[in-house]
Amino acid sequence: MNFFDPSGWANGQAFEAARHAQREGPVRWMPGADVLAVLGHAEALEVLSDSERFTSRRGTGLAEAGTTGRSLNLDDPPRSLELRRLLQTVMDQPETSESRALLVQSANDAVSRARVRGDADALNDLAAPVARASFGRLFGLEADELTLLCHLTEGLARSGRARLVQPRADDELRSFLRAGLAERRTGAFWDVGRSAMERGLTTEDAMFLLRLVVQTGHESTAQAIAGAIHAALEHQLPFDSSPHALEEWLRWTSPLIRFARVATRPTTVGAFEVAEGARLVVIFPVVNRDPAVFTSPETIDLQRAPNAHLAFGWGPHACAGARLAKQQLAAVLDALRAVDRPSLSAPPVRLESGVTNGFVRVPLRFG
Ligand code: HEM
Repeated sequence: MNFFDPSGWANGQAFEAARHAQREGPVRWMPGADVLAVLGHAEALEVLSDSERFTSRRGTGLAEAGTTGRSLNLDDPPRSLELRRLLQTVMDQPETSESRALLVQSANDAVSRARVRGDADALNDLAAPVARASFGRLFGLEADELTLLCHLTEGLARSGRARLVQPRADDELRSFLRAGLAERRTGAFWDVGRSAMERGLTTEDAMFLLRLVVQTGHESTAQAIAGAIHAALEHQLPFDSSPHALEEWLRWTSPLIRFARVATRPTTVGAFEVAEGARLVVIFPVVNRDPAVFTSPETIDLQRAPNAHLAFGWGPHACAGARLAKQQLAAVLDALRAVDRPSLSAPPVRLESGVTNGFVRVPLRFG
């Protein structure tokens, strides 16, 4: 079984196969894919921390990225850090009582609407609207811009069923970003793109940065929220939003499946010899169940501490939106705790994707 097969993640076989391989060793050749799968926690830390030995410049997916320009995620420090700092001027805005109130309100509104309907979907009715609204507010996007950007990038992220729509979504997204930069639209989102160009990025590279921001900015969070709701109901656990519980929901859901690095020289990872040019793919859902680090990894322990999960990655490319994602997850769990507990009304439909570990829908019933 190829761990990168999208249908394997939808039916659970890829996860099981990767767990099985983990028992045989923390770094394994992936037959048929010509890459090394990194399955151990210590080995994942080693690969993600050391950008001199393991570069992002040659792509963080399964194949060569083919980028020659400047990028945040497909570049290494120190260059990547300049763009990261640019983004952090938006991401690190302190939470104000107003932004907190708006987040709480959007979570409460989503839960109220779902309760009125009775039947609801944890992903599309609860998680996604909250994730989109708070991403849109943070980046100062107009409602129509937000709707279009989320629609197009959701098509790309949910890549299983998006195989057909992907080229069209990609073209539309590019034209929209190009036009937005040219028209000098206002708001933090467009400011990031323009500031990147003032620092020497080409329009193409600035568009790539904005695309990264939208692609990462709402879908993974929506999947984490839906995954936590599903896990709480399936395992009969409270909608706990305490700091330890949030980390455990993230460990358990691990919404992103993989990111890769390429070895810049002959080296070792753990005891495994790695040739120059080898592609190492970290498989987060499995790394986050490594029994060498997590006691009873197959149990959701909402008090687990320490909890060294890598759901947000690690090192110079660790997730820039982790704080925002946790705030949103907490807001939805709080809103659900305040009402009568819903139940799972049908089996969830899992997403066919080799990148996003999540759902197409999670049917719920209130009342
Ligand atoms: C639960 C939700 C999320 C998860 C699980 C997640 C996970 C990740 C992971 C694993 C990486 C590492 C990529 C690598 O190593 O190459 C990453 C990077 C990134 N994430 Fe997230 N993310 C989430 C939410 C967000 C949000 C809400 C935003 C922004 C609004 C965001 C923005 C980014 C950006 C910009 C990067 C690239 C950072 C860099 O290359 O330096 N993420 N994320």
